[in-house]
Amino acid sequence: METMEISLVLIVVVLCASAATLVTCSSPGFHMQLRHVDGKGSYTAAERVQRAMASSRQRLATFVDVTVPVHWNTSQYIAEYLIGTPPQRAEALIDTGSDLIWTQCSDCSQCVKQGLPHYNASMSNTFHPMSCNDALCLATQEHSCRPDGSCTFRAFYGAGDASGTIDTEVFAFQNGSARLTFGCVESLMIAPGSLDGASGLIGLGRGPLSLVSQAGANKFSYCHTPYLGSNATIGASSHLFVGALASLSGDSPVMSMSFVQGPKEYPFYYVPLVGISVGQTRLPIPPAVFALKPKGTGGGVIVDSGTPTTGLAHGAYGPLREELQRQLNGSLVPPPADSEMDLCVAVAQEKKVPSMVLHFSGRADMVLPPENYWVPLDSSTSCMVMDTSNDMTIIGNFQLQNIHLLYDLAKDELSFQTADCSKL
Ligand SMILES: *[C@@H]1O[C@H](CO)[C@@H](O)[C@H](O)[C@H]1NC(C)=O
Ligand SMILES: *[C@@H]1O[C@H](CO)[C@@H](O)[C@H](O)[C@H]1NC(C)=O
Ligand SMILES: *[C@@H]1O[C@H](CO)[C@@H](O)[C@H](O)[C@H]1NC(C)=O
Ligand SMILES: *[C@@H]1O[C@H](CO)[C@@H](O)[C@H](O)[C@H]1NC(C)=O
Ligand SMILES: *[C@@H]1O[C@H](CO)[C@@H](O)[C@H](O)[C@H]1NC(C)=O
Repeated sequence: METMEISLVLIVVVLCASAATLVTCSSPGFHMQLRHVDGKGSYTAAERVQRAMASSRQRLATFVDVTVPVHWNTSQYIAEYLIGTPPQRAEALIDTGSDLIWTQCSDCSQCVKQGLPHYNASMSNTFHPMSCNDALCLATQEHSCRPDGSCTFRAFYGAGDASGTIDTEVFAFQNGSARLTFGCVESLMIAPGSLDGASGLIGLGRGPLSLVSQAGANKFSYCHTPYLGSNATIGASSHLFVGALASLSGDSPVMSMSFVQGPKEYPFYYVPLVGISVGQTRLPIPPAVFALKPKGTGGGVIVDSGTPTTGLAHGAYGPLREELQRQLNGSLVPPPADSEMDLCVAVAQEKKVPSMVLHFSGRADMVLPPENYWVPLDSSTSCMVMDTSNDMTIIGNFQLQNIHLLYDLAKDELSFQTADCSKL
């Protein structure tokens, strides 16, 4: 099995295009075009975003509760929905690490391979281009105006970048439908495989353009089925629930934590990770390793459903590696050549791998059984599936298999519960 190291988490540096750092932030990698069409420039960027949020709430007269089937493909979890009238099928990664909903469009000049035909706006009679005066155009991180007055965007991710027009269209999910603002992608320069054959992305982040914000929902939940199930569960669907349908149930204990307050202009859900145990041993990780650095300069820990495997900040990965080496002494074998794995054991020794516990503040302990961080690469070798990341710790999907996560935005809490996701 090949693990996917590429993250779709939105690149943070781009976010300095919004809010307070507007003037001081000019990074050489991209060109920023900002037009103050809203109120002739008399609003700050933060005020414009707030106005956009208010306007997006007005746009949907009623709140929308949404259910979306999600299945695992080869490296990502893929959601299915319909777009346009008559409806066209589309597939998207669900991404808590970014906001924008987008799909590759049929007039795309540079796109990546997708399983379904591209969405063709000319075949839909509910497609509407958005004017660049519109508050939701202004709320898009990096937007600009075409001479014809239409709104364009560019979004930067860990895996590459997407650009196109901002438009509105009718989206229909398994349950729930709504007119939503989305990006019609004309160019996508992204690491091969990072979309896993899907047509686009559904952002679930904190910003005004995410599905959660546009639906006016104050909670959502999802539960990822195992990557490697018995034959019966391979490809089994779970669901993304947005709105009233999102809730935890069943007998297994529910743990909760408050989100950590991050910079307001970031879409991320920061969580209070305070420690890690392997087996019975608490790793010697200084708290600063997981702390958010002041003024949005990095650090922190986020949960990102657009990232396949967890990346631990260096200061945590080192102690984890050492402790596993100690506990698995005698069982470790060299990783298969050409794999990028670090720690491996013979498949027959797999049961020696201890559980891992992620300790969040408020005594919310998340137990990761061996199958949530260790995987058989082939018939003889089983390896650890965790990476290092520079600075920010990103909790990815592999680690959260069969854990139902509820994001309660009204309470500003993340709750979780172990579950058989294929039954939800
Ligand atoms: C999109 O639909 C229109 C109208 O049916 C058609 O003329 C056009 O060829 C389609 N575009 C693509 C790229 O398929
Ligand atoms: C959602 O859709 C399913 C299948 O179409 C249906 O059985 C269920 O009752 C719906 N739930 C709600 C809350 O509308
Ligand atoms: C799923 O994986 C297969 C390859 O195994 C690929 O052809 C397909 O496009 C993928 N994507 C989706 C959305 O099913
Ligand atoms: C699982 O599927 C594989 C290939 O499709 C097959 O060879 C194997 O016998 C199946 N195992 C079970 C337990 O059904
Ligand atoms: C591994 O175990 C051997 C004896 O079984 C011991 O000599 C060695 O020091 C151990 N290595 C580590 C890193 O604990």
